[in-house]
Amino acid sequence: MQSFDLTSEQQAAYCYIGAANNTFLTGRPGTGKSYLLKRIREEHGYDGGTIFVAPTGIVARALKCPTIHSFFELPCEPLMATEASPSQECLWRLRACDMLIIDEISMVRSDVFSEMDRRLRIAKQQDLPFGGIPVTVCGDFHQLPPVVEDQLLGESLRQTYGGIFAFETESWRKAGFRKIALTRPMRQADDPDFLTILNVIREDRPEIMEAIARLNRQIRPREEGIPVLCCRRAEVRAINQAKLQALPGQAVTFKAHLRRFAPYSGQMGKELHDLPCDEEITLKEGCEVMVLRNQAGSCVNGDRGVVEAWTDDAVSVRLQYNQQTALFQREEWPVLSYGLDENGKLEIQHVASAWQFPLAVGYATTIHKAQGMTLDRVHIDIGKGCWEPGQFYVAVSRVRRLADLTLEKEVGYFDVMPAGGMSQRLKSMGL
Ligand SMILES: Nc1ncnc2c1ncn2[C@@H]1O[C@H](COP(=O)(O)OP(=O)(O)OP(=O)(O)O)[C@@H](O)[C@H]1O
Ligand SMILES: [Mg+2]
Repeated sequence: MQSFDLTSEQQAAYCYIGAANNTFLTGRPGTGKSYLLKRIREEHGYDGGTIFVAPTGIVARALKCPTIHSFFELPCEPLMATEASPSQECLWRLRACDMLIIDEISMVRSDVFSEMDRRLRIAKQQDLPFGGIPVTVCGDFHQLPPVVEDQLLGESLRQTYGGIFAFETESWRKAGFRKIALTRPMRQADDPDFLTILNVIREDRPEIMEAIARLNRQIRPREEGIPVLCCRRAEVRAINQAKLQALPGQAVTFKAHLRRFAPYSGQMGKELHDLPCDEEITLKEGCEVMVLRNQAGSCVNGDRGVVEAWTDDAVSVRLQYNQQTALFQREEWPVLSYGLDENGKLEIQHVASAWQFPLAVGYATTIHKAQGMTLDRVHIDIGKGCWEPGQFYVAVSRVRRLADLTLEKEVGYFDVMPAGGMSQRLKSMGL
């Protein structure tokens, strides 16, 4: 196990992970955690029983691995201590796995993490953490947390698993991960002043107001071709619409086909607000789009491309990453609602479905989709303000130098630190 382009600390972590230890590989953004995983990936090959998985399609694409949901065959809805058995094919897959490596662990929800543990125990017929195989979890809890869109779901996760994060679960405690932190900055290696600003934000240090003031000096209008990062999907949509309008040519609008189901007990028309896809998508030839769902064999959630042509039932898109044309059709988007049953357990109701193309205009994107990426330039538009812990920190830490970053508007302390106490909490837990 020798890899010469790794830094000495990456090399040491490489050996530790390779020696079958349960490891929590962490470190600040850009310290080369994912780079190290890619090296292990290359050297272990694709069929060595070392399985890499990631919580989002875009991170999985970078690591050339499946998402957690596809590999562990997890349903989209929350798992809530399910007792369902995985399919025979899934069990076989898991039985063949002799080491598990997970990137972007901060985004892995507690129920998903616990279910991976449970399914491996079943597959391996061993009542040991993750069925007894070595596990490496990689990521940084100062970055974005898992997506928990529903308050009730958040409450249920707290009751069932102790919280929304992987580190709050019984599975995490029992695995006994040893923490290895990479410390050498690789992404921002050439801009020490920028690195200081990032570290001040991370630790909510007393100099934070000066760091914010320095970032606010980067306020300027967005330049053409620079991706915009926003906090909210609605803000992403507004920017995309303006860009689309400015594009020449004929626009086409695809309306979602909707169907409601009987048990729906909410406000009339509320399903429309809860749609997991856009009710209408307007496109033009040459407009930039982002793929919203993994497409078997061709692309993943978060991939970018340019619209080439369309019919009523299909849209063809030239993908940026391989310059191939992919054909998209309408897909079903179930509208799920969460309620509690008579025993106080979370119950999921399928209240409606929409059929829509898995595409969105893609000039702007959410910060969530940019986690894990290194970007050449970024324009951050916080819109109505940041609200997730780590959100602003993830956005600014994507670029290599402060000069590569511009802001649309002024940011304040509560944008940078929306959940006071998170960094203290992580520190006290040794995370
Ligand atoms: N040993 C190395 N040699 C050359 N480049 C490296 C090395 N390690 C990391 N890099 C580069 O540094 C940048 C940041 O690395 P990487 O994305 O792996 O960091 P990370 O710790 O995973 O960050 P994040 O927390 O944002 O996911 C990337 O452009 C990567 O290619
Ligand atoms: Mg990474």
